[in-house]
Amino acid sequence: MKNKAKQILNDNWRDGYTVPCKDLYPFQWLWDSGLIAIGYAHYDMSKAKKELETLLNAQWKNGFIPHMIFHKKSETYFPGPNFHSAILHPNSNKDYPSTGLTQPPILGFVLEKIYQIANNNEGVLNFIKTVIDKVYLNHQYLYENRDLNNEGLLYIYHNWESGTDNSPAWDAIWETMNPTEYSFERRDTTHVNPEQRPTKREYDHYLYMIDLAKSVNYNDAKIAEISPFLVQDPLYNSMLIKSNNSLIKLYELIGGNSTKVEQLKKWQEKSITSFNNKLFNKELGAYIYYDLRNDKPINVISSSSFAPLYAGIPAKKQAAQLVNTLTTKFGGEDLYLCASFDPTSEKFDPKKYWRGPVWINLNWLLYYGLQDYGYHDLAQKIKSDTIEILEKVGFYEYFDPRKSEYNKNIKGYGGSDFSWSASLFLDLINN
Ligand code: SER
Repeated sequence: MKNKAKQILNDNWRDGYTVPCKDLYPFQWLWDSGLIAIGYAHYDMSKAKKELETLLNAQWKNGFIPHMIFHKKSETYFPGPNFHSAILHPNSNKDYPSTGLTQPPILGFVLEKIYQIANNNEGVLNFIKTVIDKVYLNHQYLYENRDLNNEGLLYIYHNWESGTDNSPAWDAIWETMNPTEYSFERRDTTHVNPEQRPTKREYDHYLYMIDLAKSVNYNDAKIAEISPFLVQDPLYNSMLIKSNNSLIKLYELIGGNSTKVEQLKKWQEKSITSFNNKLFNKELGAYIYYDLRNDKPINVISSSSFAPLYAGIPAKKQAAQLVNTLTTKFGGEDLYLCASFDPTSEKFDPKKYWRGPVWINLNWLLYYGLQDYGYHDLAQKIKSDTIEILEKVGFYEYFDPRKSEYNKNIKGYGGSDFSWSASLFLDLINN
């Protein structure tokens, strides 16, 4: 297994960065890249550093980091660089064609993680010194441009920014829109069974929102005025808060960055307070989403609802409530942990992308989060479920949570030989 995982990463390596999956995702993706670096750190630190360096080279002048970087042309993916046209933004990076969307800000904690994997190695700290200010600049950009009400909670303006593309959390937002039918050729469904991917109508919404952002040259303030999708997402904000914390620790280790550390601490306090006040739903016993455009909470439970455990956001009592929700709703006899959407909901679909399947990156976050809060048995269960699924079917992109399905010889879903499934497996077994 270990060798297979390394082989996948090595095969997906493209001279400076790693594709998440051959053909299906033939470019560099922000959060994939960070999570992939964690796997490399276990056996080839030079690749881990290079992966992050390449990603950060594509950063924009204003600190923005795009969610996809189109290093090479490819006919196997849509929408590509022409459709996105991020070049419309005056600060875009002219050397690296990209999207004008971003993704969960995980790089702060990735830097801390690779330092820990390297056993606090001086050389790795020297590398971190060369890139940490870029990550800080990214957080500064986000707080200055994505915090509409100055409450320490950032918004995303597109579902692709959440990372959890077609979550049922967005369904009610789609109902407020009625974009024209786009005519285009889907490429994803030539690689993956369409029943495991978003629908054509969902893609119409995704493309329409990019067209809207293009119509204002990707200007954040204008997007905030016109976008029908403006959401405070619990996963996105948890990743930011976890990364703030790592940046504080790393700067303190490096020394001499007191202004930045103070600023990070201010952001952090505000973000955590607002997060708990605004995004915790006591009745559901879980963190939820907030729809800023329509000014109302989105009261659904997904695996993102538990991500705050990884960022140390809940108090002990809230953590206990979360764990109760996780075990009662997501932890049935026949279910592997952790489904990406509430298995007791009628919207749950065990095969369709982010509407139910298990994802390795979310399991990985939950494993560490539960450990931190002292729920060692449950953490262990998530870890052994993860390894069991991977052993059964291999390093796919996502997986059916229903144990009984595996007696029918099913495979994993989405792309095969998927990079972060391999990389986070390497981290889990080394822990
Ligand atoms: N995950 C998206 C896709 O499926 C893009 O970020 O294409």
